[in-house]
Amino acid sequence: MGILGSPSFVTLALALCLLLNVAALCSSGGVTSSYVRKVEKTLDMPLDSDVFAIPPGYNAPQQVHITQGDLNGKATLVSWVTMDEPGSNEVRYWSENSKQKKLAKGKYVTYTFFNYTSGFIHQCTITNLEYNTKYYYEVGLLNTTRQFWFVTPPQVGPDVPYTFGLIGDLGQTYDSNKTLTHYEMNPRKGQALMFVGDLSYADHYPYHDNVRWDTWGRFIERSVAYQPWIWVAGNHELDFAPELGESVPFKPYTHRYHVPYRASQSTAPFWYSIKRASAHIIVLASYSAYGKYTPQYTWLEQELSKVNRTETPWLIVLLHSPWYNSYNYHYMEGESMRVMFEPWFVQHKVDVVFAGHVHAYERSERVSSIAYNITNRRCIPVKDNSAPVYITIGDGGNIEGLANKMIEPQPDYSAYREASFGHAMFDIKNRTHAYYSWHRNQDGYAVEADSMWFFNRYWYPVDDSTTH
Ligand SMILES: [Fe+2]
Repeated sequence: MGILGSPSFVTLALALCLLLNVAALCSSGGVTSSYVRKVEKTLDMPLDSDVFAIPPGYNAPQQVHITQGDLNGKATLVSWVTMDEPGSNEVRYWSENSKQKKLAKGKYVTYTFFNYTSGFIHQCTITNLEYNTKYYYEVGLLNTTRQFWFVTPPQVGPDVPYTFGLIGDLGQTYDSNKTLTHYEMNPRKGQALMFVGDLSYADHYPYHDNVRWDTWGRFIERSVAYQPWIWVAGNHELDFAPELGESVPFKPYTHRYHVPYRASQSTAPFWYSIKRASAHIIVLASYSAYGKYTPQYTWLEQELSKVNRTETPWLIVLLHSPWYNSYNYHYMEGESMRVMFEPWFVQHKVDVVFAGHVHAYERSERVSSIAYNITNRRCIPVKDNSAPVYITIGDGGNIEGLANKMIEPQPDYSAYREASFGHAMFDIKNRTHAYYSWHRNQDGYAVEADSMWFFNRYWYPVDDSTTH
């Protein structure tokens, strides 16, 4: 018997293999989900789908949507479109405890895009609302009046529970419809939705067919007419098409989806902040300049210094292009913005950063890559208890399909990743704890495919990592 066949060599080789395997497992921090989906093509719903139905009646308001209208949640911005003529620019509203209708006056805009002309896009901000109150509101005239309602947030304060939903890169496919339905049916009941960019995917069509902006507005109305969606601009909002004579970026998006950016002293609608309940939410622009001395850079520097964790314990950042992404899609596209802003996020103890763009799901551990200074060789992400958790939630279900190619092995910092469509919930309990869950579309409405208890970085900066 040669040495290869000797029992002691086999035992040694087996032990070595086992050791190497364990080492390989240990070197990979998190979980790459083994969930197996039925592979299906993602197709846009046809124009005659019921979810795109035009409300009946002459000039009936459609695409009704609301967002927070000021810094603190005492105002609501209502927007809607009339197709035939401008019609009324008024919103009638009343609280559920009062029968007296009040009136708010708005204004409207129109725009053209290549051979498309928009309807009359109305916007009207209702101000001086009471906190924590249900309001009904009406838009339209006579027999085409349409009625909706919303609930204002509680007064901004440190221990105010509040539940945010999260959707990104939604589009208007059959999968998009499943994502929205699952969000609506989630028993945690989202009170406002943080939308991390890439709305309609109208630019996927020849000439960026803006009719698909209208269908998208009608599709999401069933949710966004009743609770505010907080908007982030993605790359599909650029609609930059000089070959069509359309060389002003973000034209359809900025005409249709207004945000209260001036309330936070921003100079453009792509970066701004709001306070809602116990959260301070900062929206950043991956597709606007963010280098040193730029308006966004200067604004963010000042904005972070204004955050008062005694008033709003939870500091949340929304942006489109993720900084920590271990898929082979849009790999390192967020890197230049990370280099600019990551030290500030660690310094100011941001709790969580939500991004979209990559059409899949991923959650990181708390890591930072700020030690590296070009010459010191410390160019790997390290565990950092002051760093945010980075979550990619670009899995709304748009026409471009899933990102399913991952970089192997899974990096240490990646806690959980899965290529499935879904949505998430960020459920703030008090100043120290928030419960986060991710829900894939294939499961029942209450099923959590991934979850984590967040410990607040300012009030309870205890290690909350979920891998070791
Ligand atoms: Fe994107």
